[in-house]
Amino acid sequence: MCGIVGYIGSREAYPIIIEGLKRLEYRGYDSAGIALFDGKDLKIAKTKGKVSDLEACVEKETSKTGNVGMGHTRWATHGVPNDVNSHPHASNSGDLAIIHNGIIENYDALKKELTSRGYTFKSDTDTEVLINLIEDVKKKENVKLGKAVQIALNQVIGAYAIAVYDKNKPEEVVIARLGSPLAVGIGEDEFFIASDASPFIEYTKNAIYLEDEEMAIIRLGKAIKIRKIKDDSLVDPYIQELQINLEQIEKGGYDHFMLKEIHEQPRAIRDTYRGRLLRDEAIIKMAGVEDNMKKFLNADRIIIVACGTSWHAGLVAEYIFEEFARIPVEVEYASEFRYRNPIITEKDVLIAISQSGETADTLAAIKLAKSKGAFVFGVCNVVGSSIARETHAGAYTHAGPEIGVASTKAFTTQITVLTLIALRLARAKGTMSSSDFRLHLHELELIPQKVEQLLQVDQHVKEIAKEYLLSTNCLYLGRGYNFPVALEGALKLKEISYIHAEGYPAAEMKHGPIALIDDRMPVIVIAPSKGHYEKVVSNIQEIKSRKGKIIAVVTEGDTAVRDIADHVIEIPDSEEAFSPLLTTIPLQLLSYHIAVMRNCNVDQPRNLAKSVTVE
Ligand code: F6R
Repeated sequence: MCGIVGYIGSREAYPIIIEGLKRLEYRGYDSAGIALFDGKDLKIAKTKGKVSDLEACVEKETSKTGNVGMGHTRWATHGVPNDVNSHPHASNSGDLAIIHNGIIENYDALKKELTSRGYTFKSDTDTEVLINLIEDVKKKENVKLGKAVQIALNQVIGAYAIAVYDKNKPEEVVIARLGSPLAVGIGEDEFFIASDASPFIEYTKNAIYLEDEEMAIIRLGKAIKIRKIKDDSLVDPYIQELQINLEQIEKGGYDHFMLKEIHEQPRAIRDTYRGRLLRDEAIIKMAGVEDNMKKFLNADRIIIVACGTSWHAGLVAEYIFEEFARIPVEVEYASEFRYRNPIITEKDVLIAISQSGETADTLAAIKLAKSKGAFVFGVCNVVGSSIARETHAGAYTHAGPEIGVASTKAFTTQITVLTLIALRLARAKGTMSSSDFRLHLHELELIPQKVEQLLQVDQHVKEIAKEYLLSTNCLYLGRGYNFPVALEGALKLKEISYIHAEGYPAAEMKHGPIALIDDRMPVIVIAPSKGHYEKVVSNIQEIKSRKGKIIAVVTEGDTAVRDIADHVIEIPDSEEAFSPLLTTIPLQLLSYHIAVMRNCNVDQPRNLAKSVTVE
């Protein structure tokens, strides 16, 4: 959480930083700030609110000139979102400035120590403590900025991606990371610093991703030097060529990123299986699985760890793996798993699912599993992300950048990757016949065109949304493969429209939630024709007899549910196991339209951030 952008070179830094912050706003958007060196002094402007508020603030209060600068968009951890707590933070002397993404856990003890030596603090943040600690070390030890940062970071417990600047050394920026991502764009005689590469992709395709516990001193006219924070050893910089382009991170004519990303799903799912699903040869080719086939085949069980929507994709995968490959699967919230002293052995395979590849709890769960000798496989979207690098092997989802804070195409592409893995293992284990395997490959290949067809329900879903935009509660019910879709549908609605929503396995309704049903309660029931259909129809009857309002997602041609439900949304027929890839689409659209009609900020819902790099 929090987005960092820095620039050092010969261009005007202001527009680069502001545009970059807007692209990183998905990481946090409760306050924003900028520091620019105008050739003489360091000018800081910061404010509660969005980057657009920062622009207005700079317009009023300070200048926009300078070839060196850094900016920040915040998701508050310590201290409420207000002007003072916004970054950058200056040291007591005013010489040093910092932007920070992460949490300094021992900030209180450090603050007490610094206060006892005369330091004062304007904000409630852990970051202001860190910059004064750096200043204190610099003075006490009489060392340069890079060394002072290194010594200070060795006293710190927590997570960080930081950029530190000394106004007396305007051609230099010191950066460091532990647990929060940081990329450096390398241009000709210029450097860009950012939480991800999106702020600088139009300037350079060459980037270095700092690893955990690394720091770098970036000096104009010099090659970047990377060192280990702990022991000062030099690290060879690995310069990657970026694969993303500007078009992928723009709205492309849609009103919101979320809507664009919903509509991108046919393409995204195709990209996910492209080159992996080879129907003519009747094979699935995935290097990460192939190279580690023995580990998968010898596994006692697969443990899936993830958070939020990715956890829901993991739940769908549980059904698919157990059905296709007959391997026992356990799906865990990463945040619970990591603190539960779980039993993990060398015969376990852990699959970590994460769109961003930066989720702190998922990363910690991976480290724990690795320390116990388990084989760890990652399913990530962001190429080169921390989780992609921390896992032994993995498979990217290839969804392309997902910028809307609510996950949409990440979910369907995660399910696609996991389905491919399950099918591959099913063949290797002989738990699926070759004719069934071929049939499944064929069916999976048809999904993108079915999603395309399904997206045409948009207008119909919008009409339904109009009737429920004032609801205060909502239930989502599904069974089997579609139980996780019910959870995901409810999460989508609550996170972007702020309507309270809960997902349940349809049969669980009788064990409590049925008490909530009355004529004001919309109940979204996922009832495709394959998979416990009759049972779900009975559940629908039970809701109807209690006057609940029913929005049913059914297979096209269904008549039984049409007679009972208040609204039906039809999806194309498919293999039962692939139905979540279809049933989830109208639920995404329903949440989207309700949120838009309620005037909610769909792409940046309150209190949320796209990349949860704090636990
Ligand atoms: C919901 C959503 C979150 C994320 C969760 C995990 O729409 O986006 O619930 O799914 O924060 O994030 P990743 O997948 O990046 O690990």
